[in-house]
Amino acid sequence: MIQYYQKQGQDFQNYAAKNKEIYTHNKPFPHIVIDNYFSEEVLDSLLEEFPGPESNVWHSSNQESVQIKLRSNWENNAQVPKHTYEMINFLNSGDVLRSLSELTGIEGLIADPYLTGGGLNCILPGGQLAVHADGNWHDLMKVHRRVNLILFLNKKWQTEWNGQLEFWDEKLENCEKKIDPIFNRIVVFTTHDYTFHGHPAPLMCPPGESRKSLIMYYYTSYPRPPEQTSSSGVHRAEWKITHDGGEYKPLG
Ligand SMILES: [Fe+2]
Repeated sequence: MIQYYQKQGQDFQNYAAKNKEIYTHNKPFPHIVIDNYFSEEVLDSLLEEFPGPESNVWHSSNQESVQIKLRSNWENNAQVPKHTYEMINFLNSGDVLRSLSELTGIEGLIADPYLTGGGLNCILPGGQLAVHADGNWHDLMKVHRRVNLILFLNKKWQTEWNGQLEFWDEKLENCEKKIDPIFNRIVVFTTHDYTFHGHPAPLMCPPGESRKSLIMYYYTSYPRPPEQTSSSGVHRAEWKITHDGGEYKPLG
């Protein structure tokens, strides 16, 4: 497994060098979609150990129209499933941090070994995540949130189940991109006060199915540029738009 991730680390450095222009210029804000980067076997091993909805590792959010989801709330390494632990170590490694800095143009990215907010996510039928700007600060490490990486783990996903990751323009007038949360798809995007995203439409997948992902957050010790900042202070997620009864609706 070590050799596998060593090779993946080298591949990611090459990928980042070749794709940084694409990342920077993608609309509505810098991002990239990477398909089939990992081997199917490795991701199958994550799926096999993915906790069921009844597991006690989940922290459950249940705010209607805002966020209805499960997020892993591990208190120590022993609670993290083995293959997921190896994957997280890789995604928090120097190879990946160097590559993400090259890809995004954001120097000196820092991982979050505490997995505050990051980790496994599971959305059940009816679940949703309103379009939002992310919180901007890590309370414990006292660093600034800069980049999100999502690895989707959903085989046989159907577009009509909803659950697409939506990217909105900075005026919140239009959804400019929808990304299906399919198996072995990575989405990397810059996060700041105007990179609005979510999956606001309630999930329509059948009972027994769910929208599964592993989410990693990355930080810098120095602040975001002023043009990425809407307010001077620390803030949590800022909820903007939900989707209810087939229509987008503003929040707040
Ligand atoms: Fe977010």
